[in-house]
Amino acid sequence: MRTQVGIVGGGPAGALLSHLLHLQGIESVVLELRNREEVETAVRAGVLEDATAELLRETGVGKRMDQKGAVHEGIELRFGGHGHRIDFADLTGGRKIVVYGQQEVVKDLYAARLSAGGKLIYEAAATGLQDLDTPQPKIRFRRGAKLDLDAGDIRFRDDTNEEEITCDFVVGADGFFGPCRSFIPDEVRKEHVRTYPFGWFGILVEGSPSTEELIYTLHERGFALVSTRSPEVQRLYFQCDPNDKVDNWPDERIWEEMQTRLATDDGWTLKEGRIFQKDLVQMRSFICEPMQHGRLFLAGDAAHIVPPTGAKGMNLAVSDVRVLVRGLIEFYSSGRTNLLESYSETCLRRVWKASRFSWWMTSMLHRFHDEDDFRYRLQLAELDYLASSRAASTSLAENYVGLPMEVITGVPAND
Ligand code: PHB
Repeated sequence: MRTQVGIVGGGPAGALLSHLLHLQGIESVVLELRNREEVETAVRAGVLEDATAELLRETGVGKRMDQKGAVHEGIELRFGGHGHRIDFADLTGGRKIVVYGQQEVVKDLYAARLSAGGKLIYEAAATGLQDLDTPQPKIRFRRGAKLDLDAGDIRFRDDTNEEEITCDFVVGADGFFGPCRSFIPDEVRKEHVRTYPFGWFGILVEGSPSTEELIYTLHERGFALVSTRSPEVQRLYFQCDPNDKVDNWPDERIWEEMQTRLATDDGWTLKEGRIFQKDLVQMRSFICEPMQHGRLFLAGDAAHIVPPTGAKGMNLAVSDVRVLVRGLIEFYSSGRTNLLESYSETCLRRVWKASRFSWWMTSMLHRFHDEDDFRYRLQLAELDYLASSRAASTSLAENYVGLPMEVITGVPAND
């Protein structure tokens, strides 16, 4: 098989890349390990920065988002039993966020790709990359793949053999656990990792929202977050032990914990409902430098992970893809490689800033139970400062709605 851009991974990064390339007349093939239903129903985060939402609209995949997503103009920070609103629209000149599940974005992108005859191969695992330092890199892959979660490896149906895609470029959009990153040689690859001493316990709940905007809470017992998925489904999280098990948390215990952490003295109540999904989310910061090698480019979680507190994960995938598409357009229209050569450098500036923001939100809003009160008191003081200072609130707001896209470096002026 032959294509221009071979994309490993059909999550938000891979699916969006394939969609944007198609709009520019550039052909791609996407390999996705899971089947379509698995990707479309995976429970993931759901906050879109202003510019992410705008990009989806501009490229014709924003219709369902505008119907079903919820535009939020601020968030609430809650501590000491009081809520304090951070008004994004006021602090950032009218910018906002859209709360819309990541899997919904992927669903919209798949629908667009498939109706345009796009080539998406589900249940296909990349088994190797080759010739990355030549103009004809190759992806080896096998169909009939199934991820065996218990064993932590991939199994294949017996009736499939290895196949090969010859491309001009390979994009590793295969997530944190995908194989592509390891094809950047060890001597040039540096991985920065920070794990946090807690995880998030997430639940999906039937019922109407308890609040119009997201609530981020710091309580003595730990962090909690009230988010939403739709007028009928709510998404809630609370900080837990990173090694905790879903089975340790019967519904009653969950509600008691959430009610305690979110309690206020102004009569607000958290609505309870039927819990129909429970999951544990790991908290990790991870950055791989560089994000490219020869004709291989990494995008999204394959290159970086942020803890979910700043809601940046999918937005970073989108900003990587934006930079990559500009580079590929430049290459296919003029043969120049300036933008592709500076891909990693351009992306990493934004990635580090988003990582800083996510680390900062995480550090401020969680209990570090193994540390003394000094740290906790500083966190409360920081929240108090945020709630009372327009300058501090503006810093949070402009990061949350999304910093401006980088001016792309490496573009020769006037030619
Ligand atoms: C979510 O709705 O899943 C969500 C919202 C905000 C976050 C993280 C997750 O910071």
